[in-house]
Amino acid sequence: MILHDLVRDVTPAVDGSEKKTVAAIRVPAANEVADLAADIRQNLLQAPYSLPPKYFYDHRGSVLFDQICDTPEYYPTRTESKLLSRYCQHIIDRLSVHHIIELGSGSSRKTRHLFDACQMLNQYPQYWPFDVCEPMLIQTAEELMLQYDWLTVQPLEGDYSAGLSHLPKPHGHSLYVFLGSSIGNFTEQQAVSFLKEVSQHMISGDSLLLGIDRVKDKAVLESAYNDRQGVTAEFNLNVLSVLNNEAGANFKLHQFNHQAVYNETESQIEMYLQSLADQKISFPAINEALYLQNGEKILTEISRKYSLEGIESLLAQAELEITDHFEPANEYFSLILAKCSK
Ligand code: AVJ
Repeated sequence: MILHDLVRDVTPAVDGSEKKTVAAIRVPAANEVADLAADIRQNLLQAPYSLPPKYFYDHRGSVLFDQICDTPEYYPTRTESKLLSRYCQHIIDRLSVHHIIELGSGSSRKTRHLFDACQMLNQYPQYWPFDVCEPMLIQTAEELMLQYDWLTVQPLEGDYSAGLSHLPKPHGHSLYVFLGSSIGNFTEQQAVSFLKEVSQHMISGDSLLLGIDRVKDKAVLESAYNDRQGVTAEFNLNVLSVLNNEAGANFKLHQFNHQAVYNETESQIEMYLQSLADQKISFPAINEALYLQNGEKILTEISRKYSLEGIESLLAQAELEITDHFEPANEYFSLILAKCSK
């Protein structure tokens, strides 16, 4: 496939510059993944009630997530971004990459540090952002191509948790990027199998840049998921709107409370929506109903935190070899560069 064929049209923008519009390639699921109806049946309709975190990210959810990243309490994004800006040149310089493939790219904000470094070092890789949120992908691709006129962006629409084998394997060296401690949404076992998949997709000379949040003081962690402006609460509650919109459910958002607690035994933040009443929620699309009692909770997300040893064991189990480890003085966050050890 010739990349330029995918650039649909080139429309002159008002300021005279050219605005390229792009289309996303749909990456089909490699493994069988449950659809929303199945996820509701399997996870939400029987206790312990839960929902997979991917449903947070409709357009509003993606925007709210970006706002979380700007709250003073949510340190991960800021910390990772600082690490990236400090070490991006070092990373790009030692790798010489032809492709940057980002898993769960969102608005690609932090990735811009890598593009800045590429520009400085006269390296011009292509960018392949992979995300579930198509409008976000398109908007971001257009912005990036305006900001970096050398950059070709090929958005990939799909769910990285559905397997990677249908992800393109472009010629040359690829840098896989998995930032923001998104890996924290997986259980440890899931994280290992996911990283194994990434490492199996990698060819010799490829690398992985991985951002992982670290175990730390409970108070710091809990305030990061309970910001005072209430953005995280809004983000959490928004998943109910997604179910209302996409499954015809009738959740009343004011009947739920946001809760985020750090479970020290499991080293994970657990985010819940707690029912504020005895209530019945209907799912006409699948002809089902959920009866919640006052105080009952739906687990909407886990966000695992890793120790240094935990990170090392995770990567070793996935047959990945750590080549660099970047962390700030307070050890709040780790940026790992690794290659496959095959
Ligand atoms: C995108 C999964 C890394 O777990 O910190 C932020 C999502 N949820 N605040 C995280 C999130 C509530 C975030 N990840």
